[in-house]
Amino acid sequence: MGIHTKINRTELTRRAVLRRAGIFALSGGGVTLLQACGGTTQEPEPTATAVPPTTPPEPTATPRATPRPTRATPAPGAGTAPPAAAGPVVEMNDQLRFDPEQLTIQVGDTVTWTTVGAIPHTSTCDPAKAQNPDENVKLPEGAEVWDSGLVNSGESWSHTFDVPGDYTYFCIPHESAGMVATLTVTP
Ligand code: CU
Repeated sequence: MGIHTKINRTELTRRAVLRRAGIFALSGGGVTLLQACGGTTQEPEPTATAVPPTTPPEPTATPRATPRPTRATPAPGAGTAPPAAAGPVVEMNDQLRFDPEQLTIQVGDTVTWTTVGAIPHTSTCDPAKAQNPDENVKLPEGAEVWDSGLVNSGESWSHTFDVPGDYTYFCIPHESAGMVATLTVTP
């Protein structure tokens, strides 16, 4: 009788422990479950093969653009005559303007007029061809008149100035639209 009671008490205590552990252990399987839970964890340990912190292969430093060997520019006064287009350029545009509208050059300079838009123009300094020569044409004494004729899109025309002074010239098709510009030739 006494022994029986003792056993029962032990069993009750054991169940209480299991219950406290949050395990509803049924008779028999309780121990096994407890061991499984309290034993070594079955989780796969974080493998040491975690990606090593190797930096991703950076785009290999491309050989930084080495300063290009500067084009061997002929030394000043090397004797090579500059191309004609190297002088001042006046653009004639679709806004019906000379650009620049005022230009100062030196005697002997060659000015190139270029039609940069689609509309053809002229560079003209001839009172005989102007509608309003008093306003739109001016040239110093001894200077020759000039007229480029129509300069089409992308084309150019050049004139060299040998007489210093103040010039006013215009575009024949667009004189009335105000396509007029001035040029100063310094000695
Ligand atoms: Cu014009």
